[in-house]
Amino acid sequence: MAERTCDVVIIGAGLIGLATAWRLAVDGIQVTVCDPTPGSQTSSVAAGMLAPVTEVEYGEDELLALNLASVAAWPAFASELEALTGEPAGLHRTGTLSVAYDVDDAAAIRRLADYQRRLGLEVEELSGREARKREPLLAAGVTAGVWVPGDHSVDNRQAVSTLLRACELSGVELVRQRVDRVLITGTTAVGVELEDGSAIHAGQVIAAAGPWSSQLDGLPAELRIPVRPLKGEILRLRVPPAYRPALSHTVRATARGFAVYLVPRPGGELVVGATTSELGYDTRVLAGGVFALLRDARMILPLVDELELVEAVAGLRPATPDNAPILGPSGIDGLLWATGHYRNGVLLTPITAQIIAETVHTGVLPSLARPFQASRFTEVKVAP
Ligand code: GLY
Repeated sequence: MAERTCDVVIIGAGLIGLATAWRLAVDGIQVTVCDPTPGSQTSSVAAGMLAPVTEVEYGEDELLALNLASVAAWPAFASELEALTGEPAGLHRTGTLSVAYDVDDAAAIRRLADYQRRLGLEVEELSGREARKREPLLAAGVTAGVWVPGDHSVDNRQAVSTLLRACELSGVELVRQRVDRVLITGTTAVGVELEDGSAIHAGQVIAAAGPWSSQLDGLPAELRIPVRPLKGEILRLRVPPAYRPALSHTVRATARGFAVYLVPRPGGELVVGATTSELGYDTRVLAGGVFALLRDARMILPLVDELELVEAVAGLRPATPDNAPILGPSGIDGLLWATGHYRNGVLLTPITAQIIAETVHTGVLPSLARPFQASRFTEVKVAP
């Protein structure tokens, strides 16, 4: 069987794997990325919200710092990608409007706004009328809003396509095969074994396999990480030219206790997401999921009834027990994790690539990433 060699082999060609590959290749490192279907799994089934403020969760302060660093890194990351490829990176700096339907929903978003302000985040509370001034097609029933100027969105499919091009232009080799096993000699990762039985030898292995990260063979049981697939259904609606733009900002809504978001794309699409179900690796689109998304979206934006449903698709978020990613040392020399980004994969793409590239170059995990080491789950001492 043929054997190949490179400096770094990356398992997974989602946004995280591709961005990391590109960063390393730009620095002159010979990188191979392995994935049977590059960019077409989790990274393509997302709305692409960059929403560290809107989606902040009570008590997740370390994750918030990482999320804020990444939203700040997106503009330079996008400019660099665009300069290299001549293609758009998909970043849309629109701000985000969080809205509430009934009085309970309004109380919930106001409570969150208090917390956001205590954290020093920029938010502005609005009445329903003020929210409709920003988005005139919102339902008359919208009772309150919170304007979040620093939360934006990325057309994730555009970003995938541009990153694939950037990788190609930077000399990254793409191998369209599944990695079955990490090859370990003694206590050191030395490469990967592919589904056809061939091997790629490398001085450094980076596992960016998203929801499949816990399934990689070759690792001792005590170093396996608890990443699980968390299903989400998402819809794409086409807005007829006469109604464009249906929305000018990302709208995140709490509608009778249910969360729904509507993310406009410049081409006239509206992405509506997302359900959350613990169904393992099941990616069937269920009628109940589509129903729930449309029920909640039309409560906030009645125009939804007039839009063409062009796609309903389900993807798998790589979830971890504490909702934060797993970055850096694995407990095996030569194997780094870049996975478990849960709801924040698009957001965390630039900072993850930066962190992992720096770790490869220096052998030291940057301090911002220290709280996110695998050792918080594996309880195995890892050298930074
Ligand atoms: N970040 C949005 C989601 O996971 O649905």
